[in-house]
Amino acid sequence: TEKEIVGSQKQQLAKLFEESLRAAFPDVSDVQSLIAICNDAKHGDYQCNNAMSLWNKLKGKGTQFKGPQPVGKAIIENLPASEMIEKCSIAGPGFVNIVLARQWIANSLQKMLIDGIETWAPKLPVKRTVVDFSSPNIAKEMHVGHLRSTIIGDTLARMLEFSNVEVLRRNHVGDWGTQFGMLIEFLFDQFPNWEADSTPAIGDLEGFYKASKQRFDSDTDFKERAQKAVVSLQGGEEKYRKAWTQICEISRKEFQKVYERLGVHLEEKGESFYNPYIPKALELLNEKGLIEESEGARVIFIEGKKIPLIVVKRDGGFNYASTDLTALWYRLNEEKADWMIYVTDVGQREHFEMFFSAAKRAGWLPSNEKDYPKVSHVGFGLVLGEDGKRFRTRSTEVVKLVDLLDEAKSRCKLALVERGKAKEWTAEELEQTAEAVGYGAVKYADLKNNRSTNYTFNFDQMLSDKGNTAVYLLYAHARICSIIRKSGRDIQDLKKSGAIDLAHPDERMLGLHLLQFAEIVEEACTNLLPNLVCEYLYNISEDFTRFYTNCQVVGSAEETSRLLLCEATAVVMRKCFHLLGITPVYKI
Ligand code: ARG
Repeated sequence: TEKEIVGSQKQQLAKLFEESLRAAFPDVSDVQSLIAICNDAKHGDYQCNNAMSLWNKLKGKGTQFKGPQPVGKAIIENLPASEMIEKCSIAGPGFVNIVLARQWIANSLQKMLIDGIETWAPKLPVKRTVVDFSSPNIAKEMHVGHLRSTIIGDTLARMLEFSNVEVLRRNHVGDWGTQFGMLIEFLFDQFPNWEADSTPAIGDLEGFYKASKQRFDSDTDFKERAQKAVVSLQGGEEKYRKAWTQICEISRKEFQKVYERLGVHLEEKGESFYNPYIPKALELLNEKGLIEESEGARVIFIEGKKIPLIVVKRDGGFNYASTDLTALWYRLNEEKADWMIYVTDVGQREHFEMFFSAAKRAGWLPSNEKDYPKVSHVGFGLVLGEDGKRFRTRSTEVVKLVDLLDEAKSRCKLALVERGKAKEWTAEELEQTAEAVGYGAVKYADLKNNRSTNYTFNFDQMLSDKGNTAVYLLYAHARICSIIRKSGRDIQDLKKSGAIDLAHPDERMLGLHLLQFAEIVEEACTNLLPNLVCEYLYNISEDFTRFYTNCQVVGSAEETSRLLLCEATAVVMRKCFHLLGITPVYKI
């Protein structure tokens, strides 16, 4: 049977207060209830903030109300009966403070334990989204910027998927453009037998790229050949197509190694995919009168920007912008997505602003940014090294991502061995834990910051078992699992036969915060901020520590209830890990 999705507490409260507002103020149409978490937990759990603005509306209309306070009172009096609310009170200019019923919190937790945390999925106003992320470029190194895009994009996709939104995970690989003429000619020169092998032994494709670029810049004859090769490739000539495919394939294999390590799944629809659709998309823009001639190029002027968006270069070729406009057209019309999310470094903000504006001018997108279909650029800051400069390693200019992930894992393994785990665990357990903790640490260190800021890459910090790190959180979760395991009680049994009681204030606090899971995920999705989930996860672990310090679990009179609260904490933490793309561990 389908289990009902209950929505977040905030959504449930909003519904109750909307009923009250409709009943108390039938003449004021269309009021949305404003529910927020109480700033001061002493006053309540939530508050309803409608009274002040309602009073301002009513004031001029000869109302019987004498101020915002009586308005707030009327809101309380008209609330429908509900088990959710224990009491409401008025504060200041009509704020309604809401205290949730302890029993209701306990019942909600228990229901979640039985029906699954999926019933706590937020309800979002979208059906199908495109998350355009990772998107490295062929023959160029996949750098830490792409790692950030991969990690952030995957998390956003996971959060939306959890919220029952269909997600098209798109890898917008840079697999097209004039540089391929040069790469193909260089392949012909350097590997005369290239056709015999499906992936010629170029080895280091980045070095190959650099060498071919050098040749391109210094050898005019080669340059000419390269330029002709572009035309042949774009004309679809088989030999060139084949060489292009081979070069792409080499890069793709490299990218795949990173995705496999990270457990990230993506569907490649590279720039080349949209190429055949470009003329048609540009024609549509032209029909709307958007495209103008400027210095031999074809451009779109954008309000407030000095430099126009070039959509056809002077040589007649298409570019990044023409491809993105076309991809947007495709996503809107062929894939029927209602939210397009692009994850790149903040350096590309201008590009996105420009082509989003063009799409609005064309009427492809509504002019109000709150309406759907909608586009969002998720920009992120740089990854810095200890020296405060762009992150690099000693040997190479950019860091090889695979090496970086390997190092995180081997450092974790070493730490586990030092703690004697090599004797305690099987080799497989050791390997899997090192991997989960190592890769998890890299992801968490990236995700816990507000994405728009730069962050400093530091192995020692991210692999520390103290503070706000994945290591600390994974261990905290494993410890909870071990408490339950060691109690010797059958938790499946307890879920059905036992009951949760939240008599101690630290129990109630933990329970209330666990229930806030759905609204955190909702906010993280709406504002595209994975760090909110990290912050929440960390706070939960703190709530748990407080509870566990002050409330005896095993052997106490409240053992059953408290074990269930432990289990609920573990379930919520696990779901957070899952949303962040981190594999939980159960033993430490
Ligand atoms: N390949 C680009 C880069 O490495 C990122 C592409 C992002 N997606 C997009 N639709 N423009 O910078």
